[in-house]
This record gives sequence, C-alpha cells and structure tokens, in this order.
Amino acid sequence: MTGLAAKLVAWHKRHGRHGMPWQGTRDPYRVWVSEIMLQQTRVATAIPYYERFLARFPDVTTLAAASLDEVMRLWAGLGYYSRARNLHRAAGIVAREHGGRFPSTFSGVAALPGVGRSTAGAILVFSRGARHAVLDGNVKRVLTRAFGVAGRPGEKRVAARLWALAEKLAPARGVRAYTQGVMDLGATVCTRTRPRCTACPWAERCVARRRDMTGALPGRKAPRALPRRRTTMVALTRAGEVLLEKRPPAGIWGGLWSLPEAAHDEDVAQYCERRFGVRVADVERLPPLAHAFTHFKLDILPLRARIEALEERAAEPGLAWLPLEDARGAAIPAPVRRILAGL
Ligand code: ADE
Repeated sequence: MTGLAAKLVAWHKRHGRHGMPWQGTRDPYRVWVSEIMLQQTRVATAIPYYERFLARFPDVTTLAAASLDEVMRLWAGLGYYSRARNLHRAAGIVAREHGGRFPSTFSGVAALPGVGRSTAGAILVFSRGARHAVLDGNVKRVLTRAFGVAGRPGEKRVAARLWALAEKLAPARGVRAYTQGVMDLGATVCTRTRPRCTACPWAERCVARRRDMTGALPGRKAPRALPRRRTTMVALTRAGEVLLEKRPPAGIWGGLWSLPEAAHDEDVAQYCERRFGVRVADVERLPPLAHAFTHFKLDILPLRARIEALEERAAEPGLAWLPLEDARGAAIPAPVRRILAGL
C-alpha cells in the first residue's frame, strides 16, 4: 500500500463514517442499490429510503417481479428518477439473463443500465473486496486538490488523469476501507467550500493546500444562470379526493404521478372543463414553489380548483381520483407532495 492509501485507511478507521446500513453487507444487490441511491443523494437522506426499499425488495428477483409503479412509489421524493427506472430494468436483466445472480465481473456489472465505471468499481470493491478505482464527484474533488490537477474534471484529458491516479492509489489490500475512506474524506473534510484541511490525512502532500488553491480546484466553468420555466399545477379536488395524472415515461418526473398542468395563460375553469369535463365551483391560488432541475428551474404556481357536484365519470387511463391521504403516499415528486400537504 502506498503511504497515501495507508494514511487514508488509518484516518477512515477513526474518523470515517461507520454503521451506515449498507456497510453491514457484502450482498452485491444491496451494495448496488446503495450506490445508485448515493449517486445523487446524501447519506442522511438516503438511509430511510434505502431501508424502506430493501424491506420491500430484499433481493433482485423481488425487485424484478415488482411493478415499475411500486418501485417509483418507494423512490418518490429522492429525485433523479431515471435511477429508479434503470434499477428496475437492470433487475429484470439480472433475473432473466443472469439467472437471478448479480453479475460478479466488472464488465457484467458495468453493462447494467445506470451503472457507470465508478459505480461498477464501488459495487465490486464493497461486495467482493476486488481492487477497483472509484471516481465520483467527491473523489474527483479530493484528487484534483491533492495532486493539483487543473482543468475541469469533465474534460477528457483531466478525467483520464484522475482515473489514472485513482487506479494507482487503490490498494490491493484494504481496498474497502480505502474506498470508503476517500469517499468519506470528500464528503466530510475535503468539502467544496471551506475544507477542513487541518483534519485531513493528506494535508502534508496536498498541492491545493500548499498553494492555497482549494477554492480554485476542481476547476469549473463559470456558472451560468439556469433557464426558468413556469407551470400552473391544478389541484382539482372533490369531497376529500384529488385528481392525479400520470406523467409520460420519459422526461422529467417520468412515470411519476403528478398534478395536471395548465398553460399559465389559460383560464383554469375552462381548462378543467376542456380536459376533464368538470365544472369548478371556485379557484384558489396556493403559495408558489420553485424547483431546481439539473438543466432548468421550474416556477410552479399551484391552484386549487374545487368541484361541487360529484360527477361520476369513467376513469380514464392515466388519471386517478385519490383520497388525499393516498395521493400523498403515491409516487409523486417532492414539490407535488408539498402542495398536497397544504391542501
Ligand atoms: N457515495 C457513494 N458511495 C458511497 C458510500 N458507499 N458511502 C458513502 N457515500 C457514498
């Protein structure tokens, strides 16, 4: 083990994160689910989702046999929903093409939808103790600073350099503790702003610290203001029920249930009549919300439209009248949950 890896492993023993629910297992299925959740979600947020998900889908065959709707319901609120769709699709592949056994080779794991090079490495490190490199956002930050790698990690040349460093550093023995350590270092010490260099086991050799450059590394593009879009969400209610609409499978919130959306210049009563054939008794504005996606910001103007009469209509596919309590527990995105909580 190089001196750096040994220092990190010693640091991790005393200061790393221990007792996370996915650390008690070497089951590659459980490790896989945890790594997918942790791709874009912080540990504290992921834990309750992870526990509910594993309680309902304890193994890959159970996940493969479940409906996508149910998977989405357990994912609802975590965001980046293509992760859940890929998880479900990959479970189907493991069930059908691998006889229900999670693949054990790098190429087998990396071929699953939603699993890139870093995630495949992490799964094999944590489940099998195999020597692989990982390079997620936290690790990129640690390595660019420690080795003074200039340029954006998104550039090919920079990424190649970072991967080469990551490969070289990963020790043959103790690779689990090393890998968890480098992830933990990035998350808890070598943070994006105000890193705690005095607590860092690599401080002595860190180029960014010696040159006072932690603010400049990793390099990034000048942040551009995200484009804004706006939408009107209509909470159509009748006698304790609310109307949900299923979103198309692709695109934002794909496959989730949501509130119907009207164009911002359309009269809401007319919209409800045109789309759902109902007459609304009154329309009330609710507090506006904003939601940030990767590529744009969404300003949401929620409205509540009440229907007086109980008109029985044949349920159209993709539309569901649900009691408010059930709607709040459905596969809905976080801002819709907030709107329903205020009804
Ligand atoms: N981020 C990605 N994988 C992780 C892990 N195993 N522990 C903590 N954070 C992570």
